[in-house]
Amino acid sequence: MRKIYVFDTTLRDGEQSPGVSLTMEEKVAIALQLERLGIDRIEAGFAATSPGDLQSIREVAKHVKNATLLSLARCHTKDIDAAVEALKDAEDPCLHLVLATSPIHREYKLRMDKAKVMETAEAAIRYGRKFFDKIEFSAEDASRTEIDFLCEMTAMAIRAGATVVNLPDTVGFATPEQFGAMFRTIKANVPGIEKIQLSTHCHDDLGMATANTLAAIANGVDQFEGTINGIGERAGNTCIEEVALALETRSDFYGAKTALQLGEIYQTSRMVSKMTGMSVPGNKAIVGANAFAHESGIHQDGMLKNRSTYEIITPETIGASSSKLVLGKHSGRHAFKEKLTDLGYTVDEEQLNIAFAKFKELADRKKNVLAEDTRALLEENMATGPKPYVLDSIHVSYGNRSLPTASVRIIKQDGTVTDEASVGNGSVDAVYQALAKATGSRAELEDYSIHSVTQGTDAQGEVHVVLKQDEVTVSGRGVSTDIIEASAKAYIDAMNRMAGRREREREGNIVIY
Ligand code: KIV
Ligand code: ZN
Repeated sequence: MRKIYVFDTTLRDGEQSPGVSLTMEEKVAIALQLERLGIDRIEAGFAATSPGDLQSIREVAKHVKNATLLSLARCHTKDIDAAVEALKDAEDPCLHLVLATSPIHREYKLRMDKAKVMETAEAAIRYGRKFFDKIEFSAEDASRTEIDFLCEMTAMAIRAGATVVNLPDTVGFATPEQFGAMFRTIKANVPGIEKIQLSTHCHDDLGMATANTLAAIANGVDQFEGTINGIGERAGNTCIEEVALALETRSDFYGAKTALQLGEIYQTSRMVSKMTGMSVPGNKAIVGANAFAHESGIHQDGMLKNRSTYEIITPETIGASSSKLVLGKHSGRHAFKEKLTDLGYTVDEEQLNIAFAKFKELADRKKNVLAEDTRALLEENMATGPKPYVLDSIHVSYGNRSLPTASVRIIKQDGTVTDEASVGNGSVDAVYQALAKATGSRAELEDYSIHSVTQGTDAQGEVHVVLKQDEVTVSGRGVSTDIIEASAKAYIDAMNRMAGRREREREGNIVIY
């Protein structure tokens, strides 16, 4: 079996999804989970974006021990210098350089002719080689680039010292046949191609990212790039879990496999969904709630006779165990910590103390604390960074014939206590109006969703919100056995992320790739 390297860009391209803004602690937690999943290469961010992004990459670099760590950089010395700084503590650093090569990008975005694009990329690769042994060069919008020029760019990148050449379908325009043929031509015509690894990076604008990635693999690429749950710019990136399971399930056809620990997929998907606030649709391949559900009588009958009639992947393969009973009210700190380890979490003392206190509160309100409850609780309390607003209390008065009224108390970072009250056209509206007054927020609620973490009337509700203020969009989440409290927590979480985002913006000009 040929080994296919997996390059994860959840923390860079994935974080470019609208409304997603991860804290440094969340980035570290996701990177460590990606390592447990067995990802070979982790793109931790784009260092030149802002000092905050550079700092997050540095922090991830201090924790990641096994995977190669990358920072994206444009072909500018200032971007490369920022990447050098960000990756200086990484065990195995790699610079990821990008420059667009297609006629559309050359003419309208870069205002460069072919010779200038070639010269700029070559100079950047040679400069990068002074600091890095490993360099990946990405020819942005490769799928819309003239094939002869793409061959010349690839040959130049190899001569200049790139170790990986990535040919992306940046705008999701390619078709599988065309994309596969592009890689065949590159492999057949570029001198020295055997000295480097070829990579692919696809976007899902036409819903073909997984198919295009598999076509590239069938035509000889060594690495594919993607994100967990397929999050990313616009319609998102290739879903890592889909490609990994396609290679595993159809190894007879592809003759290639990743080194991923497939049993970690479910946990990774849940963590990314929770921390980014991007929920996974029920019918999503591999990780959707219905991916292993069999509804029709004929299917259920077949499954009872032999599972292979309708099941090509088992939930166990991806670690999607059903919500097993985990803990109860009398469980101690030691048992709680062990269960966290079973669920794949590593926590420090401070996080354990917070999570254990929250677990005790929950166990008083809910008899059986299940695996999903524990995950929700832990992920809600993972971020230990500064919190400008803390929700102290809420009180709501509701009756179907009276005006819903809410009063809230929040504590600001400087210790100021603020009380506010409001009426609304429903309980959540009243709470949100009161919180807006208390935090001085002008944000608009762009999206609100709620789902139950487990089954039963005593289940915890998980609320996701998206808030927008002055063109900045952030998401937030909150979990509680009471949906009004969960709603209030989600709002406060979003407000805290908004404050963090503004701080990052003040630190430096945000450049998004
Ligand atoms: O989509 C793209 O082309 C990218 C590059 C930076 C690899 O994200
Ligand atoms: Zn991309």
